[in-house]
Amino acid sequence: MTTQTTPVPFVDLNDGNRIPQLGFGVFQVPAEETAETVSHALKTGYRLIDTAAAYGNEEGVRDALQASGLERSDVFITTKLANPEHGRHRARRAFQQSLEKLGGDYIDLYLIHWPIPSKDLYLETWETLCGLKDEGSVRSIGVSNFQIEHLERIIDATGVVPTVNQVELHPRLQQPELRRYHAEHGILTEAWSPLGKGQLLDDPAIEKIASGHGRTPAQVVLRWHIQLGNIVIPKSVTPSRIEENFQVFDFELSNAQMRRLSELDRGERTGPDPDSFEG
Ligand SMILES: NC(=O)c1ccc[n+]([C@@H]2O[C@H](COP(=O)([O-])OP(=O)(O)OC[C@H]3O[C@@H](n4cnc5c(N)ncnc54)[C@H](OP(=O)(O)O)[C@@H]3O)[C@@H](O)[C@H]2O)c1
Repeated sequence: MTTQTTPVPFVDLNDGNRIPQLGFGVFQVPAEETAETVSHALKTGYRLIDTAAAYGNEEGVRDALQASGLERSDVFITTKLANPEHGRHRARRAFQQSLEKLGGDYIDLYLIHWPIPSKDLYLETWETLCGLKDEGSVRSIGVSNFQIEHLERIIDATGVVPTVNQVELHPRLQQPELRRYHAEHGILTEAWSPLGKGQLLDDPAIEKIASGHGRTPAQVVLRWHIQLGNIVIPKSVTPSRIEENFQVFDFELSNAQMRRLSELDRGERTGPDPDSFEG
């Protein structure tokens, strides 16, 4: 397989940078398989890789990037601050460790992985990320799993609006209020577990729309995200699925199909509740 030019559109972040709308997530990709898996994603055309310190596979991402022959500037790398590292000093040290593991001298997007309200350190941690951005070693900063009250608090205190909030989002958990808040404040919605971890792909409504387009349920769900304007980062360790999930820019869902998919919301999480998750 040869390296392809990417058909993925870029979306503007509120700080003047831009992010590919479709990326590749590496949560639960074993460290020893990460380089090979990410290499396949890069060959397929993905140019956004989403990792985290907590995934233990940042070095595999670096190895794939170095082996790819791509320029560092061709690929957008996101990583995240691990939950035990909240607070000024810990956050700075954790950021340096991620930077070293990923290689290069900057990270494109650095996120606070979870707010951990019980620790009450997410504001101090956000101020630290603002400082790292001013120093230039991270291009864009954002958050993950923040609820509206957490977003309001950091924005009110610092005046710095996160570029993205990466949250669990799929047809069974559509988070309409949070998405509305994001849109009103210029925050991009980045969907994690965009396929609902694969658990919703046998839904009859999704299957019906998929067969009408001659597509797979996963492609329909990813296309739904794209048409909503979400940034989307599906994960797979299966080469054929990595390729399948990338083929979502050559068909379109009708308004009626978008409406049908919006009816599947059950407010049902596959992951932890951000208000109570302790890390
Ligand atoms: N910020 C956060 O707190 C947070 C939390 C969770 C995830 N994330 C990010 O979001 C990314 C994606 O989330 P996720 O990994 O939880 O869930 P996901 O992407 O919704 O689903 C991944 C699951 O679906 C399967 N799958 C992938 N493509 C498929 C296809 N075309 N057909 C059928 N099954 C398919 C995968 O199986 P195989 O791998 O076996 O092919 C895997 O079991 C993560 O990798 C991570 O980067 C962030």
